[in-house]
Amino acid sequence: MRRLDQLLASLGYCSRSEARDWVKAGAITVRGEEADDVGERVKAEDVQVDGEPLDHPDGLLLLVNKPLGLVCSHELREGPNVYSLLPERWQRRNPPVTSVGRLDKETSGLILLTDLSPLVHRLTSPKHKVPKVYRATVDRDLAPDLVERFAAGTMLLEGEKDACAPAELKFVGTREAELTLTEGRYHQVRRMFAACGWTVLTLHRAKFGELDLGDLAPGKWRELPADFFGPVAR
Ligand code: URA
Repeated sequence: MRRLDQLLASLGYCSRSEARDWVKAGAITVRGEEADDVGERVKAEDVQVDGEPLDHPDGLLLLVNKPLGLVCSHELREGPNVYSLLPERWQRRNPPVTSVGRLDKETSGLILLTDLSPLVHRLTSPKHKVPKVYRATVDRDLAPDLVERFAAGTMLLEGEKDACAPAELKFVGTREAELTLTEGRYHQVRRMFAACGWTVLTLHRAKFGELDLGDLAPGKWRELPADFFGPVAR
């Protein structure tokens, strides 16, 4: 049970002071009765705004096809972000909607967004080793020995002491490869290729665990059930 004004603010409807005005205006019902106290403790499923049930009170989990040019950071100085693709109410939720790991500004493809912070921790934890599949194009022809170098589990990235976990590299074309990683280090795909002397020109994430983009267009999202990865506390 939560205070009505806190609940509405956390789901991005309005500020706590605006909630008072909404109650006065008769816009909120609790179990079918007009609410008269913003401090009343309520269950989300009992509340309606303008006759509608609350928007995703159990949390949001979205699979997004991130276009190029958007960052996953909330820091506005870093440029337009992936959250700007979402409805404004979702952008105002608190806890905020954040990405599960990050894709670079110049990487496109599958990114999960959620306001379920335990899920972010679970899916990004090195313990869970969720496989992530990337498509990369590079600046010169790929050499066969790269497959072994990526798979060896000994590759060191500049400035790091711990070797990268084994990664599976498959050639798709002379300058295009599919790479499966189970870690998520900063700029990892670009840095692994750089460690071998190749420059990544384009990068796209095609899969996260069992999830893929299907026919989702860039800039669009698909909702997943909040418990898609199992029960999660809110
Ligand atoms: N590796 C990168 O270099 N960039 C990404 O966005 C993701 C993985």
